[in-house]
Amino acid sequence: MSILKFIVVLFFFVSIFESSNAQLSATFYASTCPNVTEIVRGVMEQTQRNDVRAGAKIIRLHFHDCFVNGCDGSVLLDNAAGIESEKDAPANVGIGGTDIVDDIKTALENVCPGVVSCADILALASEIGVALVGGPSWQVLLGRRDSLNANRSGVTPDIPSPFESLDVMIPQFTRKGMDLTDLVVLSGAHTFGRARCGTFEQRLFNFSNTGSPDPTINSTFLPTLQATCPQGGNNGNTFENLDKTTPNNFDNAYYINLQNQEGLLQTDQELFSTSGSDTIAIVNRYASSQSQFFDDFASSMIKLGNIGVLTGTNGEIRTDCKRVN
Ligand code: HEM
Ligand SMILES: *[C@@H]1O[C@H](CO)[C@@H](O)[C@H](O)[C@H]1NC(C)=O
Ligand SMILES: *[C@@H]1O[C@H](CO)[C@@H](O)[C@H](O)[C@H]1NC(C)=O
Ligand SMILES: *[C@@H]1O[C@H](CO)[C@@H](O)[C@H](O)[C@H]1NC(C)=O
Ligand SMILES: *[C@@H]1O[C@H](CO)[C@@H](O)[C@H](O)[C@H]1NC(C)=O
Repeated sequence: MSILKFIVVLFFFVSIFESSNAQLSATFYASTCPNVTEIVRGVMEQTQRNDVRAGAKIIRLHFHDCFVNGCDGSVLLDNAAGIESEKDAPANVGIGGTDIVDDIKTALENVCPGVVSCADILALASEIGVALVGGPSWQVLLGRRDSLNANRSGVTPDIPSPFESLDVMIPQFTRKGMDLTDLVVLSGAHTFGRARCGTFEQRLFNFSNTGSPDPTINSTFLPTLQATCPQGGNNGNTFENLDKTTPNNFDNAYYINLQNQEGLLQTDQELFSTSGSDTIAIVNRYASSQSQFFDDFASSMIKLGNIGVLTGTNGEIRTDCKRVN
């Protein structure tokens, strides 16, 4: 083989090696945007004052970003030529928080233009939003780049529906490299935020055509939910707290609610009420130890944030999170 061929082949392998090993790092912006965390925190604190759901909206966006084509900011793209926005998929109807992302992006572009990706904004702001309302802190890994496209048709298969059985939901997580503990611990994000009636009202009156409510709803909790979302009512814009006990705080009350049959979504309650399921012991563990919940939540968030990331020279750094450059 000629020297030239050898060099070409060598470069080929070196570049494959580099791209498959590109790692995220906590200090990725240390020289290019040293104040990135403070800037994101400033906007999150400001927003949180007028919108108690700020952190909840952001972490849900991050989850929906990471589960569809990886954590690449694809969920943030608006419709455009060649882009079918993921926000128009059924699982993303009414998804909030994109205005907050835009505010953060503007603040960052003012200080370090073209440097911090939208995918990293979601990861950083998720941690900050959780910590701001009493939840755990963790070291956020950075260096993701933004996608050049969206994948609307990937949303329905990849984002779990709240009407699913555990048998369907578990493989949706394993396909993304997430195990049963990840599923149970990340579901604990439903310790804050809201859900529309349309996402749980199927449980309230005629569950699975049985003519009766879901038997795993606590009988003292049921009338409250039925009053919030009356049968045949115009419930389109009515919301309920995902955590009835401490709706705006990040704590382990979600798991205690499940033990009391007071989970809001069918998919929440199933973690505790599916007889024989290995998820029950995990729910019980987090119900009895908030620190276990916080430790495992932090680990699973880092795992979530690593799914399918673009690094190196893949993708781009968007200047506007809603569109490709
Ligand atoms: C395990 C399967 C999951 C299902 C079936 C599910 C389903 C849902 C549904 C139906 C809603 C209400 C949406 C609406 O009203 O339109 C919701 C809200 C929410 N989800 Fe999940 N989710 C899951 C996992 C997760 C994960 C892994 C996270 C984050 C780590 C998360 C964070 C949230 C948050 C914070 C909200 C409230 C958002 C707000 O207040 O705007 N969810 N989820
Ligand atoms: C970073 O923020 C601190 C205070 O928030 C400020 O004093 C400092 O000038 C900022 N540094 C840069 C490089 O923007
Ligand atoms: C979109 O997501 C689906 C489901 O994960 C996947 O099968 C498909 O390859 C993705 N399409 C693109 C273009 O990435
Ligand atoms: C429950 O739904 C099924 C199917 O739509 C219907 O046949 C049945 O009459 C309903 N039962 C009650 C009590 O509303
Ligand atoms: C129903 O909720 C109450 C109040 O949280 C609780 O004391 C009771 O044990 C719950 N019942 C069941 C069956 O979980």
